[in-house]
Amino acid sequence: MPNAFISGTGYYVPPRVVTNDDLRTQYGIDTTSEWIVQRTGIESRRYAEEGVGSADLAVPAAQMAVKNAGIALTDLDMIVFATLSPEHCFPGSGVYLQQKLGLCDGPNAKFVPALDVRNQCSGFLYGLGTATSMVKSGAAKHVLVVGAETHSAALDLSTRGRAVSSLFGDGAGAVVVSATDVDRGIRSWKLGADGRFADTLSQRIWDIRKRPFIPQSAEGVGQVQPELMFAQMDGKLVFKNAVMRMMEVLMEVCVAEGINGTDIDMFFFHQANLRINQYLQQHLGIPDEKVVHNIQRYGNTTAATIPILMAEAVEQGRLKRGMKCAAIAFGSGFTWGAAIIDW
Ligand code: ACO
Repeated sequence: MPNAFISGTGYYVPPRVVTNDDLRTQYGIDTTSEWIVQRTGIESRRYAEEGVGSADLAVPAAQMAVKNAGIALTDLDMIVFATLSPEHCFPGSGVYLQQKLGLCDGPNAKFVPALDVRNQCSGFLYGLGTATSMVKSGAAKHVLVVGAETHSAALDLSTRGRAVSSLFGDGAGAVVVSATDVDRGIRSWKLGADGRFADTLSQRIWDIRKRPFIPQSAEGVGQVQPELMFAQMDGKLVFKNAVMRMMEVLMEVCVAEGINGTDIDMFFFHQANLRINQYLQQHLGIPDEKVVHNIQRYGNTTAATIPILMAEAVEQGRLKRGMKCAAIAFGSGFTWGAAIIDW
């Protein structure tokens, strides 16, 4: 059985920077930069322009990952696309990305499978686990795993929505998972979910149990109330469970590998809230130099946080071949996951 390793990384964030002060001055939200920084660590985030979707953000990230992997786009055997902000209800963003990458064009068209993953902040690790299994089973040699989000279109950018809208930003990260006979790559990985908290962090814009699934006016125009249109969250419950589950799942993969925290050279924590990660870091005694963050600059980019972190760490020369890494995520569902990677 081959090993599966991350052969290339890439990322893209849209150019428009929105600072905490911009939320106040441009959108009229009753907030202060101090409030947001103190509770979340976030200083700014990126917003895509109207007309740009998650598959668009994913294109440069995917191209960079494929180039860094030293392969051609046509070498890809599968696309796994993790997002909670797909272009449409259906189809998923994976097929849009395939089309935008030019994989459907010309004599070399390659109609590889495109799978969408719906696991929110844990989406990248669910995708990584799927790609690893595909590669190890021999079903694929190179799998593109993307996490991309266009949150800015679906945030309640008013004082009413400030507790959620101040947290999120847009961006995309991508990795290529490739087969190798070398003793390296994605080692133990573990995923979990607790559906008892399905409604605790959710965006229930439609309800398929209702007839019609979105309330309609007399003219047949769909009308959605703000509490359904925008994400709702019990922030304190999310915080508590994130800390508990991330700690547990990290322990589980360490035990499976027969290692402890001090054996790990670099930690990639999902970027939901700097305070969650600082709590984990403090509790587990992890020194600053082993942890990378970008939430200060990008906010929470959900499925994109971990692949962007990895791509930036490679670009900055901090993440090098031979390092032992841990990636840990928690999010809506609740869902969570962790992986140990010999880079
Ligand atoms: N600016 C100013 N005031 C605000 C803001 C804001 N941006 N947001 C909320 N407030 C106000 C609220 O309206 C409330 O005011 P009130 O007391 O007059 O009603 C007050 O601040 C306290 O609100 P809480 O929601 O109770 O604030 P809390 O201390 O819980 O902090 C936070 C909110 C930062 C979201 C926190 O709960 C948290 O970090 N939770 C973790 C969840 C998380 O990070 N989610 C990210 C997405 S999920 C994921 O990726 C895992």
